Amino acid sequence: MLLDLSDFLPRQSRPLRVKMDEFQREGRLKHLIFASQLELEHLNRLQRLADIIRQLSKTKKGSDALRSLLSHKRAMLYFTQPSTRTFLSFMAACQILGLTCNEVRDPATSSEMKRESPLDSIRMFSSYFDVIIMRSPEAGFSECCAYLMNDLESQEKRSVPIINAGSGSEEHPTQALLDVYTIQRTFQFDSTAGTTGNRLAELNKKYSGLTTGLSNKTYLFCGDLGRGRTVRSLATTLTNYRNIRMFFVSPNHEKLRLDSALRKRLEVANVEFHEFDSLDATLQGQDILSLTDCLYMTRIQIEHNTSADTAALNEMDLSPFHLSPTRLEKLREYAPILHPFPRDSVVQEIPTIIDADPRAMYFRQARNGMWARAALLVHMFNVADQLLFLHNDFYGN
Ligand code: NCD
Repeated sequence: MLLDLSDFLPRQSRPLRVKMDEFQREGRLKHLIFASQLELEHLNRLQRLADIIRQLSKTKKGSDALRSLLSHKRAMLYFTQPSTRTFLSFMAACQILGLTCNEVRDPATSSEMKRESPLDSIRMFSSYFDVIIMRSPEAGFSECCAYLMNDLESQEKRSVPIINAGSGSEEHPTQALLDVYTIQRTFQFDSTAGTTGNRLAELNKKYSGLTTGLSNKTYLFCGDLGRGRTVRSLATTLTNYRNIRMFFVSPNHEKLRLDSALRKRLEVANVEFHEFDSLDATLQGQDILSLTDCLYMTRIQIEHNTSADTAALNEMDLSPFHLSPTRLEKLREYAPILHPFPRDSVVQEIPTIIDADPRAMYFRQARNGMWARAALLVHMFNVADQLLFLHNDFYGN
């Protein structure tokens, strides 16, 4: 009998902590499906690998050496939902490491038009490629593909890693990876070009108690929190860090507010969080922006609107969710502004005038996607030792 996605339902409906082990192998990520798989140890390891890849990429000699790491592997990019950054940065990551890539972006060009099941398509990809990187509008599809691969492996058949590059409105773990990498780099407080001395010591004069790293910080998420998978994945990943607080700012609409699953996850993780309906809101008399260490903006995901949603949103004033130069003045002087992009060019939740602000980190964030995803491939293909060896060879430490 042909396999159907619903065959995996009993496995899918188990609690996350029960199924997590099936996506790991000997302490490494075997498939990356959920942001909850990204534990502190993985994050630290991946950040170090990403730094090394960035450094080696600066020279031709280093780039040539990097390209030899996975030149015997092939990747399939199976993206049946629109994507610019995730698709291109994964492709660039593959190219950095020498992997050959191929793509299917439109199921109309594959045999699914001849009624092939998506699971047969996936199994076919696994015959030709060594990793499947996939984005799908269907929540849970990449999880089912990982079960399919695990079942094949247990029958001693060919099986390859699955990487979730965005599924439904649920999960976007590799975006969380690059977001955390960007935040971690920003919170090293390295002195910026042209300045001398210790930036953190300077900042401490105004913001006492400020430390390096992602712990001990307040994160503000703004926009479409209910339908945006990047917020859900990043907020989940941030629960790995100590003493963090989250502010959630969204229009007061049931689909756009913080959803109950994430709320529960934060409660279980003992994270302090507060919900607001404007960027101008205050907490105990203080502007929330003046208490924010990192600002994460998102767009309203209009493509998910029903006609009733469009009508309701048209009635609302959405300006409290836009970053204006006046609001920017209230934000802490070191707080990075992130956005997973695309930003809405009509609404302009971040107007382009803000791009020149030193805190605007979103273009660097997108570029970091390339290093973070290359690091993930190095980790999953278990060539981290070879990478470290290369690095020692070049830099001798
Ligand atoms: C996001 C996505 O696809 O979830 N984009 C991305 O991967 N950088 C965010 C969005 O579409 O708003």
